[in-house]
Amino acid sequence: MENYGLLSDNQNFFFKDIQMESLSRPSLFDFYGVCMTKYFTDNWDNIQNFKAGPDDIVLASYPKAGNTWVSYILDLLYFGQTSPERQGSVPLHERVPFLEIQIPGFPSGKLLSTFPRIIKTHLPVQFLPKSFWEQNSKIIYVARNAKDTAVSYFHFDRMNKAQPEPGNWESFLQRFMEGKMVFGSWYEHVRGWWEKKQSSSNILYLFYEDLIEDIEQELGRICSFLGLSPTTELKKQVTEKVLFDSMKTNKMVNGSTDEVFDFKISPFMRKGRVGDWKNHFTVQQDEQFNEDYEKKMKNTDLLFRTVL
Ligand code: PPS
Repeated sequence: MENYGLLSDNQNFFFKDIQMESLSRPSLFDFYGVCMTKYFTDNWDNIQNFKAGPDDIVLASYPKAGNTWVSYILDLLYFGQTSPERQGSVPLHERVPFLEIQIPGFPSGKLLSTFPRIIKTHLPVQFLPKSFWEQNSKIIYVARNAKDTAVSYFHFDRMNKAQPEPGNWESFLQRFMEGKMVFGSWYEHVRGWWEKKQSSSNILYLFYEDLIEDIEQELGRICSFLGLSPTTELKKQVTEKVLFDSMKTNKMVNGSTDEVFDFKISPFMRKGRVGDWKNHFTVQQDEQFNEDYEKKMKNTDLLFRTVL
């Protein structure tokens, strides 16, 4: 396999010494207009100076939109047949490193010497390091409807010791509507990337709901965007391996190697459905949420499905 050879340029970023200080739940603060925690801002200068390459593939999303799902699809498309050992022994978060994360003990991009580099980010569009734009790197953005995102994020914050305390569902939902979440407002995130996509042919904008509805069709869109022509056999392998139940039992992709997660509280691969919000929202919460949503999303043609 070709070695991309950009590691030395980015060494400071990816091999920065990680202090094994004890992990504590961080507080939220305003960071250039977006709520963030220290675990995603501590390495900011290195992140902003990241040297992208033209063949890098960025997988961007607001948290809980299906980033892990699409990461695994891309990893299988590029490395599923050539690197079986990678599939069996290297956790997905090492194969697809998380650009801005700086959590004590969290492994950083060991496999970035493979080609192409697939890089995960939750950054809002205005924070993406400028070299990705300069290099015209390909970017896949995944978006998920606000209600299911909020529910998934609530359970994630309950089980992830590196996230702020979620509080109860009622207060969490209020904070979600106010954009007081790590990585800021869902509304601004999905709109910011959507607007950027209108003028950038290097962005593919995917929806979680479409992936659920027709994975083969979305796989086709991903391949055509990336200029890939996988064999029928590879396509079949990918669609089988990325099924929710297959991923849930696959220790290399289900988050069970991640020490900040407490699976006794909630699994990372939790429900994987469209419409689970109905089990969480009261009628009153739903009405209030819809009214607020209309106001925040009134000037956009970006449409989401909350049921299939
Ligand atoms: S993270 O932590 O922000 O990177 O989370 P992310 O991977 O973006 O999103 C996690 C949610 O995606 C669901 N998921 C899937 N759904 C359906 N099929 C597959 N294969 C799949 N893989 C991940 C995961 O279960 C989380 O959603 P919820 O609603 O919590 O189950």
